[in-house]
Amino acid sequence: MIIAVDGPAASGKGTLARRLADHLGLLYLDTGLIYRAIGWHLLENGFAPGDENAAVEIASTLDLTAIDEVQLRTAGIGEAASIAAANVNVRAAILQYQRRFAEKAPGAVLDGRDIGTIVCPDADHKLFVTASPEVRARRRGRELRLSGTDISDDEVLADLLRRDERDRTRAVAPLKPADDAHLLDTSNLDIEAAFRAAVAIVSGS
Ligand code: DC
Repeated sequence: MIIAVDGPAASGKGTLARRLADHLGLLYLDTGLIYRAIGWHLLENGFAPGDENAAVEIASTLDLTAIDEVQLRTAGIGEAASIAAANVNVRAAILQYQRRFAEKAPGAVLDGRDIGTIVCPDADHKLFVTASPEVRARRRGRELRLSGTDISDDEVLADLLRRDERDRTRAVAPLKPADDAHLLDTSNLDIEAAFRAAVAIVSGS
């Protein structure tokens, strides 16, 4: 069983995907974290996020099993990840890892931008999770402030919109729903209601 969960930044797809995996006893992979790790290594080593050679080298040699989540959850790393992720060779370098993960027993939930379209086009279930930009900015702003970042919802909104625009308009694997994806708008749903809606979709009810 493979479940693809895609959507724009801070749409709630990560929380949903993780809960679905727990609920169904499946493995879980946050593919955004891989791009974030690439962005982090680029910045840490003094490279521009758009430096193709450096990004491909990092993507090809990164230990994808040893990603420390906490330091990667900043707005700056999200931006660097989005820039690096627009490169076709960076994406190619981590594609097989994602596909192999998806095929592990007993099955997996993967979340990202291109899971239903490119990584797992034959996934058993595909969800495309959205929420209005304002709702997403409010949710992500709260998270960032809780983890100690001094940032306003307006600044978060500007970051999200810029990142979504880049992710949506890039030439390779752009953010878009697969033709056979179920759309789930969580703007007016709390986590519990969104989870119930996702379970209903994957159980076909
Ligand atoms: O899901 P996230 O916000 O952690 O992802 C960070 C960036 O990584 C996102 O702006 C675009 C990129 N990304 C991608 O291009 N493809 C994916 N499958 C996942 C993330």
